[in-house]
This record gives sequence, structure tokens and C-alpha cells, in this order.
Amino acid sequence: MCENAPVENKKKVLSCIQPSGMLTLGNYLGALKNWVAMENEFDCTYAVADLHAITVRQEPAKLRAQIHSTFALLLALGLDPEKSTLFIQSHVPEHAALSWLLSCYTQFGELSRMTQFKDKSAKHADNVNVGLFSYPTLMAADILLYKPDFVPVGADQKQHLEIARDIAVRFNNIYGDVFTVPEPYIPKTGARVMSLQDPTKKMSKSDENANSWVAILDDRDTIIRKFKRAVTDSEACVRVSETKPGISNLIAIYSAVTGKSFEEVEREFDGKGYGDFKLAVGEAVADELAPIKAEYDRIITDKKLLEDLYKSGAERAERVARKTYLKAMKKVGFVL
Ligand code: TYM
Repeated sequence: MCENAPVENKKKVLSCIQPSGMLTLGNYLGALKNWVAMENEFDCTYAVADLHAITVRQEPAKLRAQIHSTFALLLALGLDPEKSTLFIQSHVPEHAALSWLLSCYTQFGELSRMTQFKDKSAKHADNVNVGLFSYPTLMAADILLYKPDFVPVGADQKQHLEIARDIAVRFNNIYGDVFTVPEPYIPKTGARVMSLQDPTKKMSKSDENANSWVAILDDRDTIIRKFKRAVTDSEACVRVSETKPGISNLIAIYSAVTGKSFEEVEREFDGKGYGDFKLAVGEAVADELAPIKAEYDRIITDKKLLEDLYKSGAERAERVARKTYLKAMKKVGFVL
């Protein structure tokens, strides 16, 4: 689509990210890189999903800092607040309000099947709260309020997206055409970046071993060191294989960052050792992330700019969200 096409003609995109600590290379390759890539072609709405973060206990001062830092990171990625709507989820109360409505159109059984719920409730057995269970209805509200055509996410969010689609279809079947049924937009490479220390597990900031994940804001030396320490195998051959999860993960990362196909990567490192390959992956990732970190360091100190931008972003988001929310309420039979 032409870059200067009026906003109304563009397809819509919505996605969110939790402000839970350091954002990782997994967040970047699975989702954020696409957020930026989609900005020119689509009418995009992106939010810091702070309401989602309290399904596990958060320290108030730390949470506040992380919300600021995640919002600043969206700007540092190069997202343009003029082009895209950038905001903080809790600033638009329709998210929580629509979530209640949708929870009455969601079955207990379908939420019980969510793998993230099963994983997180096992991990936080002392705090299996109702929010953790009903999290997908809040995520469905985040999405459906903005009627997006596409939702760019990593593969781990696919199940949540499917439930959002199911809820939309169910609601529309009863009340007519209220919600758009969105399509997931999952990258071909980078959709599931694995831990550098245990490549059978997803790369996650909640992993206690800091060598297992790369933060978007890690400095160059740290990034290269973490890749040098990445777990591989004893074959000393750079090729993709189910029996080589460590090397396959590194090839996928290198491919996602450089845009080279798996075959091109295999050819490039044919006959070379893992040492050379790991260094090349570390350097490519460090080169890609360096400008983001530099921009982040500049923006994070400008509290006034951040506040102006998240306030105006929330106003813009709420104008859209309010319309959808009121339409849904009216259809159900509330007095408006
Ligand atoms: P969150 O905050 O855990 O992650 C943000 C995005 O990063 C992707 N991601 C990964 N991709 C590839 N490899 C990995 N190792 C990896 N780790 C994370 C996630 O798939 C996600 O796209 N529930 C969501 C946030 C959310 C949301 C929404 C997303 C709330 N409301 C509405 C889309 C639409 C979450 O916890 O993502």
C-alpha cells in the first residue's frame, strides 16, 4: 500500500507488551521488530500492557519505573507517535471494562486449557489468582476494542489470540457485527527465540540465569559474551536440525537479524567452527540493538516528553476504544 494513503484506507494493527522488567531479544525478534516494520503500511496501535503485569506480584516503585522504561523503549525502537497510537493500557479504562463484559462470553473450560495459565500457576503456586486465570479475556479486550486486522506477536501468544478470535465470533453471532476477527501476524524466523542456556525453553526475562537471555538494552560486550557462552553441541557443524536445538536457535537469530535464509547462513559458515559462528551472531545482534540503546538512553531522561506522549496517546486510543465499548454495551442491553 502507498505510504501516503489516508489512514482510513489502511488495514489496522494492534499489539501490546508487558512492562515486566528487561525486554529481551525474544520480544524484539518475535514482535517489536514487526511493530516497526508495519508502521508505514498499517494504521498501528501499540500499548504497554501494564494491567497484565499484576497477575504476578509487583513492587510498586519498580513497576512504575518499568512502565516508563517500556514506553520509552517503544520510542527508542523508532516508532513514531504521530503515525502510530502509543499508550499505556491502564490509561484507557475501557480495556478493563470490556474485559468484564467479555468474561461473561468466555467459558471456564476454554481458559483452563491455556498453556500459559498452566505454566504460570505452576511457577507461582502460592498466588494462582483470578486475574491470572482470566488474563486472556483482558487480552481479548485489548485487541477487540481497536478492531485490528492483524496482531503481530511471537508464537507463544498464538493460543491467546485464538481465544480472542473465538470470543469475537461468539459475540458477533449473538449481536451482529460488533468486533473484527483479527489474524495473528507471526514472523517466519524469530517467532520463538529460545534460551541460550537451555534451547528447549523459550527465552524469557523471568529466567534466573541471566546468560540465558539477551536484553534489548544490554551493552555490546555483554551481548557478545552471552552468545559466546551459548549452549551448542559437539558436532561442530553449523546446520539446522531438530537434534541441534542450540545451533538451530542461533541460526534462526542470525537469520532474523540479517535477513539471510537458513541455507545462506549454513553456506556462510560451512567449514567454520562454532567459535566464529557465535561471535558473528553476537556481533550482528549487538549491531542491530546498539542504536536502540543509544536512543533509549537519550529518551528515558526526558520525563516531560514521555508524559506528553503517553497522555496524548491515551486520548487518541480512548476515542477509538470508547466507540467500540459503547457499541458492545448497547448491543448487550445496557442503558447508555
Ligand atoms: P509479552 O509481554 O510476554 O511479550 C511481548 C511480545 O514478545 C513476544 N515474545 C517472544 N517472541 C519470540 N520469542 C520469545 N522468546 C518471546 N518472548 C516474548 C510475545 O509473543 C509478544 O508478542 N499477553 C501478551 C501481551 C499482550 C498482548 C495484548 C499482545 C497483552 N494484550 C494484545 C497482543 C495483543 C504478553 O504477555 O506478551
